[in-house]
Amino acid sequence: MRKKILAANWKMNLTQPQVLDWLKVFHDLDWHQPQQELRIYPSSIYLKELVSTGLHVGAQNVFAEQKGAFTGEIAVEQLQSIDVQSVLIGHSERRLIFKEDDALIAQKVRTCTGAGFPFILCCGEAIEQREQGQHLAHVESQLKSALEQFDPAQHSLLTIAYEPIWAIGSGMSARTDQISEMHAFIRDFLEKELGAIAHQIPILYGGSVNSQNASELFSCPSVDGALVGGASLDAQHFHQLWQALSA
Ligand code: 13P
Repeated sequence: MRKKILAANWKMNLTQPQVLDWLKVFHDLDWHQPQQELRIYPSSIYLKELVSTGLHVGAQNVFAEQKGAFTGEIAVEQLQSIDVQSVLIGHSERRLIFKEDDALIAQKVRTCTGAGFPFILCCGEAIEQREQGQHLAHVESQLKSALEQFDPAQHSLLTIAYEPIWAIGSGMSARTDQISEMHAFIRDFLEKELGAIAHQIPILYGGSVNSQNASELFSCPSVDGALVGGASLDAQHFHQLWQALSA
């Protein structure tokens, strides 16, 4: 059985005192659920502090090169050296705002796999692509280029997050039939590319997941969990998602 994952992507939010407040509330709640994995992707300045809590802590970004003159960037080896456990690659905000293209994303995937470092590969279409019926082809091309040299033997490093751009931060999540269609498509693609081990790769959904819609979204059998932005910034709210995932 695939493990379920609930991942908080804090993006560029929360100050140091707010992180401490979040942790205070977090520690007062019961997160014991052996079948589920909780992950936090904070701004990099908080990584070390959060790692010390024993949580699965991941980075929001990593650079494709291993070391050197890349001011402002962080290397896989640096993340590993402070026990960060995974990283997001290909988030639509990195693709759109920071102009990360398929080639760079593929290079990041290779760097992570080369270092044995787990990653969540994000994919998803813009609203125009969906309206033109191009959403499946678009996601396929994102995955194809990112995973071009991916060795199936390293499947345990890979998690996919389907995050339609139009659903991110909009308050309007994708419908369950839209998510089911895409997740089934992604699963088929992975099976074609990687073989039967594809069934062990978790596929998450992301885009306006909140306490109102979580139960419905998590009732989709193809949804192995969620990558959550806004609703993860409040530990109490995030805990409701955790409970919805275990229901
Ligand atoms: P929201 O949950 O705020 O829509 O963000 C989703 C996301 O981009 C997670 O990576």
